[in-house]
Amino acid sequence: MDITGKIAIVTGAGQGIGKAISLRLANAGADVAILDLNLQSAETVAKEIETMGRHAIPIQVNVSKSENVNAAVRRILTEFGRIDILVNNAGIAGRTLPLTDLDESDWDEVIAVNLSGVFLCCKAVIGTMIAQDYGRIVNIASIAGKEGNPTMIPYSVSKAGVICLTKALAKEMTDYNIRVNAVSPAVIETPIMDGMAQSTIDYMVSKIPLGRIGKPEEVAAVVNFLASDEASFVTGQCYDVSGGRATY
Ligand SMILES: NC(=O)c1ccc[n+]([C@@H]2O[C@H](COP(=O)([O-])OP(=O)(O)OC[C@H]3O[C@@H](n4cnc5c(N)ncnc54)[C@H](O)[C@@H]3O)[C@@H](O)[C@H]2O)c1
Repeated sequence: MDITGKIAIVTGAGQGIGKAISLRLANAGADVAILDLNLQSAETVAKEIETMGRHAIPIQVNVSKSENVNAAVRRILTEFGRIDILVNNAGIAGRTLPLTDLDESDWDEVIAVNLSGVFLCCKAVIGTMIAQDYGRIVNIASIAGKEGNPTMIPYSVSKAGVICLTKALAKEMTDYNIRVNAVSPAVIETPIMDGMAQSTIDYMVSKIPLGRIGKPEEVAAVVNFLASDEASFVTGQCYDVSGGRATY
C-alpha cells in the first residue's frame, strides 16, 4: 500500500479519524494537506508529519463553504503541483435527538458539512484529477448511512447521501484512472462522541457483533488501501469498518 510521492488532501484532519488517516498516508509515503476548521490542531498534525520526513501543509477550511475549499485547492496546487488523493473525512454528528425535538437548523448544519462538504471538495479537485488521469477519492461515510440510527436522522441521511455520491461519481469517472470509494465506520473512539447522548452510544455499540468500539487506526488502514494503486479494480464501493454491524 505504498503511496510514495503522492499528494493527499485529508479534510477534518486535525483530530480523530482524520488525524489517523493523515499519519497513515504520510507513513505510506504521501505528502499531506491537512484541512480543518481548527487551524491549531491542523498545525499540530502537520508538524508531526514533518518530523516523519514528509511535507505537510495545514490549511484552515470550512468544507461547507465553496470559496474556502476552492482557495485551499488553489494553494495546494501552487505548493505541490498535483492532487492524487482526496479523503473527505470532515464531519459532525449534530445534536442526537428524536425528530420531534430537532430544528430545521440541526438538519441544515449537518447536511451542509457532511454532504455538501463532500460535494464541494470532490468538485474542487475532480478537474485536476481528470487532467492528470489519476485520482483516488475516499469518502468517510458511516454505518448510520446504511442502517439509519434513531436520534441521528440528519447525520444518517447525510451519510447515505455520501455513499450514493460515491457510487454515482465512481461511474462518471470510469474513463479515467480515478477510483472513488467510501468507508463506513461504526462507533470509533474519537472526540466526536463527546457531545453524543450516552444512550445513543450504547445503542450503537450494542449493534456491533465484535462487541467493541473501533480505533481510528483501524479506519485509516482501509483508507490507505483505497488510496493506493492496489485498489485499481475497486470503485463505487462502500467498505465497512464496523465490527460486522451491517449485513449488506
Ligand atoms: N467516530 C465515530 O464513531 C464515527 C463513526 C462513523 C463515521 N464517522 C465519521 O468519521 C469522520 C471523522 O469523525 P471523527 O470521529 O474523527 O470526528 P472528530 O469530531 O473527532 O473530528 C472531526 C474533525 O473535523 C473537523 N471539522 C468539523 N467540521 C468541519 C468543517 N465544516 N470543515 C472542516 N473541518 C471540520 C473538526 O474540527 C475535527 O478536527 C466524520 O465524517 C464522521 O462522521 C465517525
